[in-house]
Amino acid sequence: MVWKVETRSENETKVLAAKLASKLSGGEVICLLGELGSGKTTFVQGLAEGLGIVAPIVSPTFTLVREYFGRLMLFHVDAYRLSGLSAEDVQQQIGLLDYMERKGVVVIEWADMIAHILPTERLEIIFEHTENGRLINFMPIGEFYESLVERIASERR
Ligand SMILES: Nc1ncnc2c1ncn2[C@@H]1O[C@H](COP(=O)(O)OP(=O)(O)OP(=O)(O)O)[C@@H](O)[C@H]1O
Ligand SMILES: [Mg+2]
Repeated sequence: MVWKVETRSENETKVLAAKLASKLSGGEVICLLGELGSGKTTFVQGLAEGLGIVAPIVSPTFTLVREYFGRLMLFHVDAYRLSGLSAEDVQQQIGLLDYMERKGVVVIEWADMIAHILPTERLEIIFEHTENGRLINFMPIGEFYESLVERIASERR
């Protein structure tokens, strides 16, 4: 399935992300795709709020991964500068597997830059600019993520 939601403000995007956060139990991989300024970091801020994280979310561009503590741990990755690296080098740079094993929530901006190392099962969220705001496309891959998105979608209908 693909579930599409149009948000008309930064706050609406955060509320949507917080709704997703409330359904997470740790170990999930969430991939955020979409052009500059399309709302990826805003979405992560909402996820963090939803997980009860009080520290401000800043773009991890220069650190590659930032860790936050809340109801669950949140690992915020910016893959923009990892483009073109081998799977081995990416793993060395960001240790994605270790984060998944630590049962935190892994959220990756520009995940398409490291497509070759992503787990097969994951939640992809694609952000697009629209006339009135942003179109947020939830594209779950695998049964677990399908049912996660179904649950959020059915509660919003
Ligand atoms: N509906 C909306 N949802 C999210 N952000 C919105 C919306 N409408 C306007 N905005 C604005 O768009 C900008 C989104 O910036 P944000 O940093 O989240 O994008 P990004 O996708 O992370 O960009 P980058 O690729 O540079 O990391 C913010 O300034 C936000 O206020
Ligand atoms: Mg960003």
